[in-house]
Amino acid sequence: MTDQIQIDQARLMSELQTLATFTNAEPVSNGTSVTRVVFSPDDLRARAWLKGLATAEGFEVRDDAVGNIFIRWTGTEPDLPAVATGSHTDAIPHAGMYDGTVGVLGGLEAMRALKSSGLHPRRSIELVMFTSEEPTRFGIGCLGSRLISGTLDPVRADAMQDKDEATLAAVRTAAGYSGSLASVQLQPNHYHAWLELHIEQGPLLEREGIPLGIVTSIAAPAGYRFTISGLGGHAGALLMPDRKDALCAAAELILSIEKHTLATHAIDTVATVGTCDVHPGAVNSVPSRVVLQLDIRDTDPARRESVMQAVRRDIEELRQRRSVTIIEQLVNADAPAQSSPHIVNVLEEVCASNGISAKKMVSRAYHDSLFMARIAPIAMLFIPCRNGVSHRPDEYATPADTTLGVQVLASVLAKLASE
Ligand code: GLV
Ligand code: MN
Ligand code: MN
Repeated sequence: MTDQIQIDQARLMSELQTLATFTNAEPVSNGTSVTRVVFSPDDLRARAWLKGLATAEGFEVRDDAVGNIFIRWTGTEPDLPAVATGSHTDAIPHAGMYDGTVGVLGGLEAMRALKSSGLHPRRSIELVMFTSEEPTRFGIGCLGSRLISGTLDPVRADAMQDKDEATLAAVRTAAGYSGSLASVQLQPNHYHAWLELHIEQGPLLEREGIPLGIVTSIAAPAGYRFTISGLGGHAGALLMPDRKDALCAAAELILSIEKHTLATHAIDTVATVGTCDVHPGAVNSVPSRVVLQLDIRDTDPARRESVMQAVRRDIEELRQRRSVTIIEQLVNADAPAQSSPHIVNVLEEVCASNGISAKKMVSRAYHDSLFMARIAPIAMLFIPCRNGVSHRPDEYATPADTTLGVQVLASVLAKLASE
C-alpha cells in the first residue's frame, strides 16, 4: 500500500491550514478557531476554493440545488454505480479545523494519490462535500445528506428559517443555488459504497494507542425545541410570590433532562441543551420567554425515548407548579445506522495486510454517513484526535495519523472501485 499510493502529507496539511483561514472567528492562542456557517461569506469562499482544487486536478465538479458539491473521477466503466467518500466543511461557532475537513480534503488527496499511482478505477470515485452537516444556522444537522437520502421533506426544508427569519429557500438562492430541492435526492443504487474519513471526536483511539477506528454503527440523534412562556416584568417591582419566571422554569427543565439521562446509567445516552434564548434579555427584566434547543442521542432509540418520556412527566409538574406554558417541538428523531459488513471487512483486510492496528467502534457523534446509510452500504474510518477534543479551537490530529487515515481511505476506495 505504502509503496504505490503516495499521500502528499505537506500538501494535505497546508490545504487544511488554508481551509481554516476561511473563518470569521477571532484568532485564539490555544489553537485554530474556525466559524464557518453554511452560506456565510466564508463558507462560499471555501466552496469556491475547493472546486478550484478539484478542477485543477481534472475532476468533474457539479453541485445540486442545496449546494452539495460532487467531485468525480470517472472510472473506466462510468455507468456502474460509483464509490464515494466525503464529509463537510461547515464549522460550528468557535470550532476547530479538523472536524469534517479531514474527510473532504483527505478524500481529495486520496483521489489525487490514486491518480498519480497510475490507477484507472473501474467504478468512478466521487468526493462529496455536504451542505450544512452542522445544525448551527437552521437548527437541523446533515441538511445536505438528509435531502440526498430522501429523509427530509423538500418543502419543509425550504421553509426552515435561520435566527433572522431568512428561509433556506431565500438563503440558498442568494448563494447561487436554485432549483427544486426534490431534485437533490439520489436513488438507492446510485452509489456502490460510501466511506467517510473523520476525526474520532472522542478519546478512545488516543487512549488505547490505536491509529485507526473502523466504525460499525452510528448512534441515533434527536433534536427538540422547547418554548417556555411565563410572565415578564420589572426586576425590582414584580414581587417574588407573583412571578412566573420563564428562565427559572427552563433551568429546572435542563436539570430534569440531565437527571433522567444520568439515570439510564448508559454510557451511550447523552443529552445537551446547547442554546438558551432569553426574552427580553435585559438584566433588569424578568424573563417572559425562553427557547431551548435540546440535542439527545443514544445507540438505542427506545432508551432515548424513555428519557424524553420521563422529562415530559416533569414538564407536566413544572407547568402546574410554576404556572408557565411549555411547548415541545420535535426537530428530528433519527434512527441509528449500521455499517456494511463488507466494507468493514475490506477495511480490516487493508489494515491487517499493512500491519496497522484498528479498533471497531461506535460513533457517538453523528455524520452525513448516518443518512448515506439509507441509500448505500456505508462505513466510516476514524483517526485519533488529541485528548478526544472536538468542537473546540484546540481540536488537533497529528499529520502522521491524518496521512495514515488518508492512505487507508485511498487503498479501500481503490479496492471498492475495482469490484
Ligand atoms: C456533529 O457535528 C455532531 O454534532 O455530532
Ligand atoms: Mn461537528
Ligand atoms: Mn463532523
